Amino acid sequence: MKPLSYRVNSTRIPVYIGDSDSPLMSQLRSAQRAAVVVDSTVATLYKNLLDEISSVDAAVVSIFHATEENKCLGKVEELLTLFLEKNIRRDSVLFAIGGGVTGDLAGFVAAVYQRGIGYVHVPTTLLAMVDSSVGGKVGVNHSVGKNMIGAFHQPNSIVMNTKFLDTLPKEELTCGLGEIVKYAVLSGEPFFDFLEKNHLKLLNKEKRSLQKIVRMSVETKKRYVEKDPRELGVRTHLNLGHTIGHAIEAATGYNKFKHGEAVLMGLLAEAHIAMHMKLLRPSSFERILKMVRLIARRRDEQVSLEETLSRMAYDKKMKSGKVRFVLPNGIGKVVIRDDVPMNSVVDAMKFVAADGLLALV
Ligand SMILES: NC(=O)c1ccc[n+]([C@@H]2O[C@H](COP(=O)([O-])OP(=O)(O)OC[C@H]3O[C@@H](n4cnc5c(N)ncnc54)[C@H](O)[C@@H]3O)[C@@H](O)[C@H]2O)c1
Ligand SMILES: [Zn+2]
Repeated sequence: MKPLSYRVNSTRIPVYIGDSDSPLMSQLRSAQRAAVVVDSTVATLYKNLLDEISSVDAAVVSIFHATEENKCLGKVEELLTLFLEKNIRRDSVLFAIGGGVTGDLAGFVAAVYQRGIGYVHVPTTLLAMVDSSVGGKVGVNHSVGKNMIGAFHQPNSIVMNTKFLDTLPKEELTCGLGEIVKYAVLSGEPFFDFLEKNHLKLLNKEKRSLQKIVRMSVETKKRYVEKDPRELGVRTHLNLGHTIGHAIEAATGYNKFKHGEAVLMGLLAEAHIAMHMKLLRPSSFERILKMVRLIARRRDEQVSLEETLSRMAYDKKMKSGKVRFVLPNGIGKVVIRDDVPMNSVVDAMKFVAADGLLALV
């Protein structure tokens, strides 16, 4: 398969998609000195790989318990201290092996350690493969808000091995698929059509379909990142589903729904709003609804409507006092609107609840 890459400011970032550990091991062996941050779950599940990594002479290995609470400045300081003590140098490379939490944290450490060192991300979840590893957004949480401290720091390369997905729990697979449905709506007919025809193979982790969808997703994200690396314009389209998705996550204390699940609900709600505002044809809405139903898990977690609406107002995408929405106005088309009537949001949330994705209180 043709190797993929994306370009930011004349730097080319290769993205390897395969099913072998060799690209990781050869990059690790060729690094002058390497710092390796590994998700503890991955370290346990892939002990042979960890042993192989640990046997590389110049590698300093740190096992990280990947939780949102640990994606924090305290952990950043811990890792910086370890690297200083172990003499990690400016020409050293940091390898982040894990999901989005590990990649965001370790990538941020790479961005600030001695004013920035190179890093290689080895994403081990579907969400990290299709989304968080691509594009150079790194960072940690603050008690005031999620992902509030961060930087843009592009990786030297991204090494994806879809074998890691064999052990990924079903709900984590759904999370990745949530972002993939978002790409399908953004990207248009061929992508959406592929997803409609292959969702079962994906849910059953069929390797070839997974590799194909990872590739299609990276190609979609690449188009936005290359045009707008610092998210000042068109890259904001990737926030489709996220205005309401983030509000649902925040309103439920970030511990009832996984991010990708909230994105699926947000996507459905925002498509409903778009249909109400006569931006999206009912037939296109039906296709999005059907897709969300195929992927999303039925949940009866309670979500406060009032809290969700007030959290929406705090969303990062709010500009000049108005809530900004990325709304689908077709399969493959979106529009930015800041004039969404409150009653359309309420109706959309009620629709999502009636469809069994959450319980509105
Ligand atoms: N930087 C970006 O552009 C960007 C984009 C989207 C999301 N994110 C961030 O990514 C994070 C979510 O990423 P995530 O969904 O990968 O979460 P995660 O890193 O927490 O991983 C999810 C769970 O899966 C486990 N896991 C990882 N790999 C596994 C494997 N191969 N087999 C079995 N279990 C495995 C982890 O230990 C964890 O419990 C959030 O913090 C979010 O803010 C960042
Ligand atoms: Zn997301």
